[in-house]
Amino acid sequence: MKLLITGGAGFIGSNFIRYYLKNHPNDQIVNLDKLTYAGNLENLKDIENNSNYKFVKGDICDFDLVNKLVGEVDAIINFAAETHVDRSIIDSGDFVKTNIEGTRTLLDAAKLNGNKRFHHVSTDEVFGSLGPEDKAFNEKTPYDPRSPYSASKAASDHLVRSYYHSFGLPITISNCSNNYGPYQFPEKLIPLFVTNLIEGKKVPVYGDGLNVRDWIHVDDHNRGVDLILHNGKIGETYCLGGASEKTNLEITEFILNEFGQGEEMIEYVKDRAGHDRRYAVDFSKIKKELDWQPRIKFEDGLRQTVEWYKNNQQWWKKIKSGEYKDYYKKQYEER
Ligand code: NAD
Ligand code: DAU
Repeated sequence: MKLLITGGAGFIGSNFIRYYLKNHPNDQIVNLDKLTYAGNLENLKDIENNSNYKFVKGDICDFDLVNKLVGEVDAIINFAAETHVDRSIIDSGDFVKTNIEGTRTLLDAAKLNGNKRFHHVSTDEVFGSLGPEDKAFNEKTPYDPRSPYSASKAASDHLVRSYYHSFGLPITISNCSNNYGPYQFPEKLIPLFVTNLIEGKKVPVYGDGLNVRDWIHVDDHNRGVDLILHNGKIGETYCLGGASEKTNLEITEFILNEFGQGEEMIEYVKDRAGHDRRYAVDFSKIKKELDWQPRIKFEDGLRQTVEWYKNNQQWWKKIKSGEYKDYYKKQYEER
């Protein structure tokens, strides 16, 4: 099988490529990534010379390029997106372009190339915000996105489903909760807090710190995507969660504890606009149909992740200083 992975130089996509090549050594992967601020080829350094792997720099909105690549593969997994909620609040332009127009471009190419298998990686944020007593999101929860990011992801999910109904495109969608693990860009809660503490800086907690997220290790998410690609029912959506609801303060205290530090390192800052209060995912459908459930215990996974950031300071220091962009831009141009 030959796969087109979009957004494979980002956090989840790069971990997926590593996971997939290990578990399917005879399959081939083409990684199409625009290398935005969040795309980093250093995430894939250990496999860049693998003969079953090829990188193509490009935009999922570029129809000619996408059409050519889709023509060469058996299936597409779309990870590419603008993903940071705070950035979408500052400027939603790229979110609409990549997340909506980019997904449409990929869908059209899949349709025009003989209805190629298409898996779309989406988020639990499309379902909105839960109250403390509300039931966790599931596949039947009505969409209620509340940030420009989640609105653009919701629109992309609707487009993907529409190509199934209108054209019989063999699609599946996964809506997953908050991922953590190695190679996550240090603008997101966990890597930002861990790297700040290594640098001796305080950690900025938004509002009262009592917003809840359902944390899942990136490898558990990617095992689910792999299963859905191979065994998922065409036209279906699967919700994936980590069974680990935590407030941001609980996460902060856990991380502070790993550094032997206390509350004096917390800085309470202005809340995010429209900050969703709680996410939680009911994954009983994929558990029943595909025998999937998260395997990595949150405390173990988070401890390993903290260690990874301690042991890979070169990786994130280049990002925080902006140096990684110049280095890889030059390397790419020289090829
Ligand atoms: P990320 O921001 O780390 O990586 C996104 C990647 O997409 C980058 O490599 C970037 O260069 C690439 N990209 C952006 N625009 C592109 C374009 N126009 N053309 C080609 N490539 C482009 O994101 P992530 O956290 O790895 O998320 C991957 C996917 O998973 C996204 O679709 C996201 O919505 C979804 N998701 C993320 C989480 C999470 O907790 N991070 C949870 C559920 C779902
Ligand atoms: O739920 C899945 C989503 O999880 C993905 O679709 C998104 O792409 C991903 O970015 C993530 O969104 P969140 O907004 O939940 O993640 P973030 O790491 O930005 O924030 C997690 C929580 O921590 C949230 O309640 C806001 C809070 N926060 C975040 C940052 C960056 C802080 O308190 N301080 C911070 O500095």
